[in-house]
Amino acid sequence: MSYRDIHDAWKADPEGFWTAAAQAIDWDHAPSAAFFDQGPAGEWFADGMVNTCWNAVDRHVAAGHGDRIAIIHDSPITGSISRLTYAELRDRTARLAGALSERGVGSGDRVIIYMPMVPEALVAMLACARLGAIHSVVFGGFASHELAVRIDDAQPRAIIAASCGIEPGRIVPYKPLLDRAIEQSRHKPEFCVILQREQEPASLIEGRDLDWDRITRDAEPADCVPVAGNHPAYILYTSGTTGQPKGVVRHTAGHLVALAWSMSNIYDIGAGDVFWAASDVGWVVGHSYICYGPLIAGATTIVFEGKPVGTPDAGTFWRVIAQHGVKSFFTAPTAIRAVRRDDPEGRMIPGHDISCLKALFLAGERADPDTITWAEHHLKIPVIDHWWQTETGWAIAANPLGIETLPIRKGSPAVAMPGYDVQVLDAEGQPMPAGELGAIAIRLPLPPGTLPTLWNAEARFRKAYLERFPGYYETGDAGFVDDDGYLFIMARTDDVINVAGHRLSTGAMEEVLGAHPAVAECAVIGIADALKGQIPLGLLCLKKGVTTPPEDVVAEAIAMVRDRIGPVACFKLACIVDRLPKTRSGKILRAVMAKIADGHEVTTPATIDDPAILTEIEAALAALGYPMKASA
Ligand code: COA
Ligand code: AMP
Repeated sequence: MSYRDIHDAWKADPEGFWTAAAQAIDWDHAPSAAFFDQGPAGEWFADGMVNTCWNAVDRHVAAGHGDRIAIIHDSPITGSISRLTYAELRDRTARLAGALSERGVGSGDRVIIYMPMVPEALVAMLACARLGAIHSVVFGGFASHELAVRIDDAQPRAIIAASCGIEPGRIVPYKPLLDRAIEQSRHKPEFCVILQREQEPASLIEGRDLDWDRITRDAEPADCVPVAGNHPAYILYTSGTTGQPKGVVRHTAGHLVALAWSMSNIYDIGAGDVFWAASDVGWVVGHSYICYGPLIAGATTIVFEGKPVGTPDAGTFWRVIAQHGVKSFFTAPTAIRAVRRDDPEGRMIPGHDISCLKALFLAGERADPDTITWAEHHLKIPVIDHWWQTETGWAIAANPLGIETLPIRKGSPAVAMPGYDVQVLDAEGQPMPAGELGAIAIRLPLPPGTLPTLWNAEARFRKAYLERFPGYYETGDAGFVDDDGYLFIMARTDDVINVAGHRLSTGAMEEVLGAHPAVAECAVIGIADALKGQIPLGLLCLKKGVTTPPEDVVAEAIAMVRDRIGPVACFKLACIVDRLPKTRSGKILRAVMAKIADGHEVTTPATIDDPAILTEIEAALAALGYPMKASA
């Protein structure tokens, strides 16, 4: 069947389509229907009974594939490679689940996971799924304050963390960050489980912290607990427009069905294949395609603890692909740009036999045509941009390699996947003609696997996604569709920026900067960066009478963002300005400043309060070196 046939089949009978897709999952009790018109945006397979861990792990062992490799941990940063079979993964997961259950963790309890790229991160996620506990993984590059915010929102019964993460050239002790977060949070977990890593073991707090090895050694293995299809499998926090992140909820059954469908139809991966998503378990890509997707498919997943460059060099990706026989590889365009910067001629590729590799998938930010061209030229395989969000959990638009490889149009993540009725709307919510830029929205209901609501924040869910265009989900992205239905995603419509494939809120950074005692008001904008796509830049207005030297304020402000949000914010640029450009109604003109910084032509907005401020902003940015000469 062609993509068109499959898409038409879904359109003709969405429920029949997803009921058929649900056959890929083992149900303890099959759902009575596919779609349930309940909750703010509908729910899928709500009354089925199912367990995620069973489907990702145990059923493969039960089917006689216990010896198949489930996880390869390839860690150039520690110089080690290890493997876990499905049988070993089941045993470790069941034991950790047993240890958690002995201490009271059960269905519906939240568990926060704060871990680097080690196989135990997946074991922890799966152990929660085994018990019906709801995990919330927090990316290791977030600092204590961000962790504390998530602890207060999710109210976990337990936290599972590693003693440290390892970044090139430095060890990042996670345990002190965790301790500080628990000090700061109002909610306190009952206990913490700490995986001690030899690079930096942590001291444990008596009565609260438990050693992972010790408690799992003697634990009674726990069985999989079936949960309802609409039971939350996890909460994953993502950046919104304010400092309070949004807790995206994922329901269990839709998640299983959608990921199973995507593994074969989009990534062309089946049982026994090796799949590698070079991301982090702290992001949605890590949830869907390092942990759950490949395991649900019975494939081998790679947990990679390293960077595209510098661990040890720009040949690492190709070495891993060749050594482990990777069939499909998924990373962010920024990672390929980093490789290309260090190895522009692709000289490090031929030394590795990567004939196993059939496709490179890119997501997380727009794949710029230059990067695609470079990768196609050197890898000689399809390079596939696909577009999705933490909210959707799997691709909204892609080139479905497992069905057919559609012609590639560079700059486009190709076409809408079944389940997504994507529309480009004008400000009044009317569909735009092909080729014209507008807000991208998806007609409700969203397909299985996407978010049904936000954790403890249904009103925010409605306001953020459903209210602007009634009957649609608002993606927050702007773009257009061409005559053949190819989508082009061009920009965000909100104050979210994308730094090295990571989604960050400028509003959250502004909240931190605004707390500096010398800062009267501020704005953070995303400016173009050749490697990371965008980087944040802060413009600070000082309070009258401040005597602290401006350079000290800038240095302190930068340190504050690193301390409160974390190094992942990449906040390294700020300058002092007298005033910020605003509309007459007081709205800061961030987009105008971003255009000036990027060297684009700026038409002075008719609504601006005082056009002279733009000249002052231009001068301040010029002093910082923006616009850069190359982009001017
Ligand atoms: N724990 C602690 N700190 C972390 C971290 C973690 N898990 N991950 C990143 N950091 C830190 C880094 O050490 C760095 O700190 P520094 O400012 O002291 O150098 C900072 O956060 C920014 O990290 P990063 O974005 O990784 O930038 P980089 O300059 O070290 O590397 C790239 C640049 C392009 C190689 C890197 O950003 C990359 O690999 N990006 C791909 C992203 C990706 O896969 N995204 C997933 C979406 S699909
Ligand atoms: P996240 O929720 O962190 O996955 O970020 C999702 C956002 O990243 C999207 O809303 C887009 O703004 C951007 N994004 C992700 N993938 C793509 C892509 N392939 N093309 C363009 N933008 C993308």
